[in-house]
Amino acid sequence: MSDIDAGRSGTFRIGGDMEVNRLGFGAMRITGRGIWGEPDNRSGAIDTLRRLPQLGVNFVDTANSYGPDISEQLIRAALHPYGSMVIATKAGLVRTGPDAWHPLGRPEYLIQEAYRSAWKLGVDRIDLWQLHRIDPRVPQDEQFDAIRQLLAAGIIRHAGLSEVSVAEIEAARAFFPVATVQNRFNLTDRGSEDVLDHCDANGIGFIPWYPLAAGRLLEKGSILSRLAARKGASPSQIALAWILKRSPVILPIPGTSQVAHLEENVAAASVALSDQEFRDLDEAGRKS
Ligand SMILES: NC(=O)c1ccc[n+]([C@@H]2O[C@H](COP(=O)([O-])OP(=O)(O)OC[C@H]3O[C@@H](n4cnc5c(N)ncnc54)[C@H](OP(=O)(O)O)[C@@H]3O)[C@@H](O)[C@H]2O)c1
Repeated sequence: MSDIDAGRSGTFRIGGDMEVNRLGFGAMRITGRGIWGEPDNRSGAIDTLRRLPQLGVNFVDTANSYGPDISEQLIRAALHPYGSMVIATKAGLVRTGPDAWHPLGRPEYLIQEAYRSAWKLGVDRIDLWQLHRIDPRVPQDEQFDAIRQLLAAGIIRHAGLSEVSVAEIEAARAFFPVATVQNRFNLTDRGSEDVLDHCDANGIGFIPWYPLAAGRLLEKGSILSRLAARKGASPSQIALAWILKRSPVILPIPGTSQVAHLEENVAAASVALSDQEFRDLDEAGRKS
């Protein structure tokens, strides 16, 4: 066992019945540059993934489009069989090159991709499958109905959404129980505060992506770096400690391709902020 333990971040039950340690891992950064193709350092990516269970991380987020396929394949190579680890994936974006992402939400495509993800990951049923984007060119109801069909077929256990509004969550809930929502959110990027509050009120897991992008607050002399120095922590750890304290439904998934950064990030589970420290950061984050 390690002193660094994601279990110290507390637990959350996705969909009411699938318990994970709250501090998870985003597996987007283990692919090639521009999230395209094989990583430059494949063995480093595998080492990073294999370190996860040793650090108590049992919630991993990936997508069919990371690589594409490469992230799911590396996860299988490094971690299968998964034991108590929950592997969440997504579909709804297609790729035409490095950093190029295009929504594709035709129901037949979403259904095909859920099956393909299950095969790539080597599972009979995907623990959590998320619609990566609502495709504005496809009727929303058709995309939500595809998810309903995937749940009914048993190929996915729970379903979530990504980059959605409160109104879109409520529209989706007419088709299936929304277990999680994954929107961009961090100390200085608060555009999804209303969505987070809605998730909190409804027991929906909120997965903030880009949790470390604290921008100017990470700079030397900022409130984040001063607090980090006072508490003997790194600015990234303080950013994660803040986000964990913001709501018990938050499941952060910081992404890295490096074991050292992974260890640093998971150690944030043991960094406790006082209510006053939380409020001071909150205010600084809103102003920046
Ligand atoms: N739903 C969506 O639309 C969506 C969009 C984007 C991402 N995501 C998910 O969210 C996850 C996290 O998002 P993200 O990767 O964009 O952002 P992030 O976790 O905030 O930041 C990751 C970046 O920070 C670096 N980093 C990580 N830990 C560090 C540390 N301790 N010190 C210094 N640098 C560090 C990483 O580089 P190194 O590799 O060098 O450590 C990487 O470049 C992704 O992996 C993916 O699963 C979802």
